[in-house]
Amino acid sequence: MKKITITIDGYSSCGKSTLAKQLAKKLGYLYIDSGAMYRAITLYFIQHTVNWNDAEAVKEALRSIHLEFIHNQITGQSDMYLNDENVEPLIREMLVAEKVSEVAAVREVREFAVAQQQKMGKERGIVMDGRDIGTVVFPHAELKIFMTADPAIRVERRFKELYEKNRNITLHEVKENLELRDYIDSNREVSPLRKADDAIILDNSQLTMPEQLDLVLQWVEDAIMAH
Ligand code: DC
Repeated sequence: MKKITITIDGYSSCGKSTLAKQLAKKLGYLYIDSGAMYRAITLYFIQHTVNWNDAEAVKEALRSIHLEFIHNQITGQSDMYLNDENVEPLIREMLVAEKVSEVAAVREVREFAVAQQQKMGKERGIVMDGRDIGTVVFPHAELKIFMTADPAIRVERRFKELYEKNRNITLHEVKENLELRDYIDSNREVSPLRKADDAIILDNSQLTMPEQLDLVLQWVEDAIMAH
């Protein structure tokens, strides 16, 4: 069957990656978590005290960054490697989450990440999630999904996820971080989060994972038929 490019954009913590992973698995497609790349760059900037408001410092630092996704045999998922080190657990921590939107708003950082994402998508049969995938990275994708969910539900889901790893985290902290990230992601100058004109909205506030998957698989079939 013909292979297509599927983009999933949307707000923080509305289940984009969970859906994208399952969809890619079901279709036998490659899954790319573009947010992991911005998180890894942020981690590098924090570790090397790079001032991301200084364009020259950013350009210099980016020359030392090598990003790669490597398949993890145990989990069956792709882990983010930063300069040959698996940074998967580190990039999910609050320290990175608090800064990643600022770093992702830097023009040079976006150009660096987008160029790599476009290369990864050269072969058809890819599901990529993020904020600007349908608008900037793959504007000609055959299927574009824009995901959203009730903010209170998103906060609750994210809190549960983080609380399992860190019992000190509060619901209030998670809420503030999500609101701030959504605000910065949607209002930045370079490729802000917005729905592509031809994207289909998926509000999953009241949908179970199997329901979402069924719905999207139907959209995939329709998109294949239409192209
Ligand atoms: O999807 P995520 O929460 O892991 O993304 C982390 C941050 O990276 C988020 O604040 C927005 C940014 N991001 C982006 O600007 N563009 C993308 N394509 C993916 C993520």
